[in-house]
Amino acid sequence: MEYVPPASLVPGRPVPSHVAIIMDGNGRWAQARGLSRTKGHRKGVEALRDTVRNAGELGVRWLTVYAFSSENWKRPPAEVRDLLGLLKRFIRRDLAELHREGVRVRIIGCRDTVPDDIRPLLEEAESLTRANTAMDLIVAFNYGARDEMVRAVQRIADRVADGSIASKDIDQALVSAALDTASIPDPDLIIRTSGEQRLSNFLLWQAAYSEFVFANCAWPDFDRNALLRAIAEYQGRERRFGDVAPLAETAAG
Ligand code: FPP
Repeated sequence: MEYVPPASLVPGRPVPSHVAIIMDGNGRWAQARGLSRTKGHRKGVEALRDTVRNAGELGVRWLTVYAFSSENWKRPPAEVRDLLGLLKRFIRRDLAELHREGVRVRIIGCRDTVPDDIRPLLEEAESLTRANTAMDLIVAFNYGARDEMVRAVQRIADRVADGSIASKDIDQALVSAALDTASIPDPDLIIRTSGEQRLSNFLLWQAAYSEFVFANCAWPDFDRNALLRAIAEYQGRERRFGDVAPLAETAAG
């Protein structure tokens, strides 16, 4: 594993409230060690567990993770079974602990096409933790941003058709509220591991003004220091949201 110098938060600069992560590179991590892809995904779950704890300790309020995309069904059936099994085990084994820590779990993605043995687990995770306020863990499962947008457009079209809104009432706030992420603020920082630099159909609407950090390590190696480094890089960025840069202070003030 590549040496990464120790990182620390930048004093006086805000920690991102919402961090979203594309947890990429489990397969390559395993392959590089002569292990099965399954082992890589298992290590990935450990990295996820650590990241939830570390993010909470560092002051992150919302953490979204891309666990299974609507396109991941194309993978070999054994790997799909494996990923679904890991998700089930994660909910069964970790839910009580997450609840104790005050974490509210929310699942985004298409619920209708989720296998019948998984849907109740997702519902249980959400209902048990609904009132928690320490941190929100948003798990993107069977999620694809284009699919999310299509479902949002259908919901809005239904409301126009039944007369509850007029098409001229459709604005950005209404579209945001029709997405799976309704009431969740847009991500401040999106991290992708394993050196790939693309969004892969993740949070396309919500990422309009997100900062991106691409970490070179594979997801199983993403530790507290890697998270600190990503956050410190974010803290060094200037966010303008389409505005101009603030004028540098001059000697005259
Ligand atoms: C990408 O690695 C990772 C995934 C497709 C899934 C991420 C899943 C986990 C971290 C574990 C399961 C999650 C939960 C919530 C239990 P890859 O397989 O695409 O790696 P590669 O690009 O090196 O092949």
